[in-house]
Amino acid sequence: QPGKTLAVIGGDGIGPEVTAEALKVLEATVGEGTFAYTHYDLGAERWQRTGEVLPDTVLQELKGVDAIVLGAVGAAPGSKAIPSGLLERGLLLKLRFAFDHAVNLRPSRLYPGVSTPLSEAVVSQGDIDFVVVREGTEGLYCGNGGAVRVGTPHELATEVSVNTAYGVERVVRDAFIRAGARRGKLTLLHKHNVLVNAGTLWNRVFNEVGAEYPDVERTYLHIDAAMIAMVVNPAQFDVIVTDNLFGDIITDLAAAVTGGIGLAASANINPSGEFPSMFEPVHGSAPDIAGQGIADPTAAISSMALLLSHLGMPEQASRIDAAVAADITERAAGPVRTTEVGDRIAARLA
Ligand code: NAD
Ligand code: IPM
Ligand code: MN
Repeated sequence: QPGKTLAVIGGDGIGPEVTAEALKVLEATVGEGTFAYTHYDLGAERWQRTGEVLPDTVLQELKGVDAIVLGAVGAAPGSKAIPSGLLERGLLLKLRFAFDHAVNLRPSRLYPGVSTPLSEAVVSQGDIDFVVVREGTEGLYCGNGGAVRVGTPHELATEVSVNTAYGVERVVRDAFIRAGARRGKLTLLHKHNVLVNAGTLWNRVFNEVGAEYPDVERTYLHIDAAMIAMVVNPAQFDVIVTDNLFGDIITDLAAAVTGGIGLAASANINPSGEFPSMFEPVHGSAPDIAGQGIADPTAAISSMALLLSHLGMPEQASRIDAAVAADITERAAGPVRTTEVGDRIAARLA
């Protein structure tokens, strides 16, 4: 009798390709029967065929599973067939909001031997190993805005960032706890010199909650300066906490400096445990390389370690992390074959 239920949404582009490898590795790790899988064909194709993005009945079903595995959704930027944001907002963000995924965890680590755009001098400063705790349910992602006089020279468009004391407090506290369990350093990224209202709230909560965690050293950086720090001295970071949009942007940069977007995993955690959490690579559907079998599935595979750790299977999670680390370190330079990477990592775990 399967213990846990997983909903799988491969999605668009390379999403289904990398998800297949992730599930292959997951099965090799936990053995057959640990999980029961239900696959959902959501994404561009479903929308074009039926006009549905995420039917309510599916949302209700997803609510009852133990966790969600997502590949990626979205059309090529500039696509005329699918309106920009339709799938991102209607599916991915809908799930993050509906299931209250307040903590978006995005770890980054530079493994020895991995090619990086960082200079030798930067790499030799110390181990690059940090986690971004990105707020996942507020900020500029709420869709709080509008446009008037659209298409006229007097068009006015607004996107208003929503920040609540409740939302900021819970993600900041989560980050302090993670920092306490790691190297004891937490950095808040914001822009309180300009975004005075939200910035003041974040900064105050950071300091108030921080007072309860005296063993965690607190640092603040403006987000623009953090971009420099991420490139000239990323070893300084242990845990980073930031809002939804800043966290989106900095985690693509973090991925780029630690071996590429193909390695970056993420977890969308529902802190209360009332709803299923969701595990996915940081990258998108990569329409430019879809269907060629050359997408790197490592990020999707690593997100299975985050899933196992969330579901209370930390030993199996560590086994996936170790297998991924070994594979990354021993990989030959050059293009990857999606299924070969999955096969190699699965073979280490079988
Ligand atoms: P992207 O992450 O899909 O691609 C950016 C670049 O990285 C491309 O050159 C791509 O080929 C490369 N890349 C991405 N993943 C890779 C992998 N696993 N292996 C090798 N190379 C990889 O970002 P984009 O091009 O801005 O977005 C494409 C679509 O994906 C858009 O519709 C966007 O909205 C969507 N998107 C979805 C998610 C998600 O579902 N979580 C995340 C980001 C973007
Ligand atoms: C990510 C993606 C999403 C985000 C998009 C596709 C909505 O870029 O998961 O990083 O901005 O959060
Ligand atoms: Mn992103």
